[in-house]
Amino acid sequence: MEKQEYTFSNKKVRYYFDSPLEHLNQLVDPDRCILIVDDKVDRLYKDRLKGWKKIIVEGSEKSKQLSCFQEVVDKLIDLEADRKTILIGIGGGVVTDLTGFVASVYMRGIDYAFVPTTLLAQVDASVGGKNGINYSRYKNILGIIRQPEFLLFDYDLLDTLDAADLHNGFAEIIKYTCIWDKDLLTYLEDNQEKALARDKKVLAYLVKRSVEIKSKIVQEDEFEGGLRRLLNFGHTIGHAVEKIENIAHGKAVAKGMLIAAQLSSKLSGLQEKEVQRLNSLIQNYHLPVTIQAEVAEIEALFKMDKKREKDFIHFILLKELGKAEVVPISLVELSELLTSFIKK
Ligand SMILES: NC(=O)c1ccc[n+]([C@@H]2O[C@H](COP(=O)([O-])OP(=O)(O)OC[C@H]3O[C@@H](n4cnc5c(N)ncnc54)[C@H](O)[C@@H]3O)[C@@H](O)[C@H]2O)c1
Repeated sequence: MEKQEYTFSNKKVRYYFDSPLEHLNQLVDPDRCILIVDDKVDRLYKDRLKGWKKIIVEGSEKSKQLSCFQEVVDKLIDLEADRKTILIGIGGGVVTDLTGFVASVYMRGIDYAFVPTTLLAQVDASVGGKNGINYSRYKNILGIIRQPEFLLFDYDLLDTLDAADLHNGFAEIIKYTCIWDKDLLTYLEDNQEKALARDKKVLAYLVKRSVEIKSKIVQEDEFEGGLRRLLNFGHTIGHAVEKIENIAHGKAVAKGMLIAAQLSSKLSGLQEKEVQRLNSLIQNYHLPVTIQAEVAEIEALFKMDKKREKDFIHFILLKELGKAEVVPISLVELSELLTSFIKK
């Protein structure tokens, strides 16, 4: 087990890397805790979660609807949760988002922590304090930025992930390589077979490095005034495609990153050979690149994009692999460019 601490604007967050789930007992008083657990994780790891008060939620996007939020609040009231209760979300990004959001508004905010159990949640969703739920057609439109008490990373939990869910996690790691760390991109290329075979050493390195990159960016700009925007690389198109094509977050981000790279080659000087390098990396990690959604459907969702200001969207583009910039693009220009990239 390795402990690290990151200080954000008003909170110190403890990270426990390579730490077994059972370590939770030493971090919190079980009598004061309520676990919010993904249903599949609960089925798989019931024996390791004995004796805790639990609320079980479905590990799917449905659990980020207002109705599920309400059900969880009702259960917290039934369990007599009070201001001293700690909520611990154990699951993928759906459970961490829901738990962080509930904890932040229940009784005006109670403490919470996460045990992320998917690769995507370990490298991204659990880190940085952004937690949100969906409303109507819009992803994460209700949300908050508020840091957890701690994160516990148990890599063994990744053994039971479906292959597709493992691949989804690689999308966010590829994102970090694009915006921040070209060496990590080379590492992903060199260790592809081991990573896909869930080699523990390789996964441990990828999780720690990703968490480190995201935490440093969030420390610089917790409330997304500038630098943190870079973490949205691939997500503007990605979120729209996720909703329209009803596909997993990681797959949608993979498609969004390739479009963003193509835009970058037109507008930010990214070389065509680097676009092709990224294209190969995405596909070698079993992620898709072809968009099925219509340009008009994507544009309709841009209207509610959190990165939109009047008629412009702040797009994250790449000057080169490992170096990103924020570029405002008018909706009209974007529409023309997208039409040329998304071939029917
Ligand atoms: N808050 C953020 O900063 C942030 C960042 C990225 C993504 N997200 C959100 O995260 C969500 C996607 O997260 P996700 O990809 O983890 O999806 P998810 O939470 O839906 O989990 C994917 C699947 O894996 C299963 N699962 C979870 N842990 C498992 C395990 N150890 N073994 C076997 N199966 C397991 C779940 O039951 C589910 O079927 C999206 O809603 C996205 O918006 C949030």
